[in-house]
Amino acid sequence: MTSTIDLGHFVSGDVIDLILTDHVRFESLLRQLRDSSSDRDAVRRAFAELHVAHATAEEELVYPKLRTKRAITAHEAEHGTEEHAEGNEALLAVLELKGTDTEAFDDAVEELCKAVNHHLAEEELTILNPARDDVGLQVRVELGEAFAKRRNELIAQGCASLTQVRAIVRDAEREGLLDDEDDDED
Ligand SMILES: [Fe+2]
Ligand SMILES: [Fe+2]
Repeated sequence: MTSTIDLGHFVSGDVIDLILTDHVRFESLLRQLRDSSSDRDAVRRAFAELHVAHATAEEELVYPKLRTKRAITAHEAEHGTEEHAEGNEALLAVLELKGTDTEAFDDAVEELCKAVNHHLAEEELTILNPARDDVGLQVRVELGEAFAKRRNELIAQGCASLTQVRAIVRDAEREGLLDDEDDDED
């Protein structure tokens, strides 16, 4: 489902800045999702598109490049991917609910905020900091262009309808990315 809320469209820049710009947008959308006076249905659909596009582009392009540059370990990349899966699972719970003015909706939004805020903090601390320290600006700019292209393309084609998010969560379950849900402390 395509979104009526503007999700931004950057084309170039240091990949770290582009990722952080999206993180700020995630936080803003989550705040709107908590606000019962906003159009929560439109906000959840916009959040879904941005979350899936951003996480997919990170997994396909950013994490592998940071690994080859030895900025992050395989464990850190895998952990980031698991946290994306947990975010998608919490997102699915929000998308599955019919009404947006119920206690069940508030509870699902709270779980989504927990999962996503945890990941944003951890990614900025353990992935973006070493990327800034260990990867040169030229590579970060090249990576920024590739990240932006993939992210924009996924948003333009629509990557997070209810059916698509169900399939993403099913695949993550199959791949074992949602095991050890309580073991996300590190
Ligand atoms: Fe991110
Ligand atoms: Fe991420």
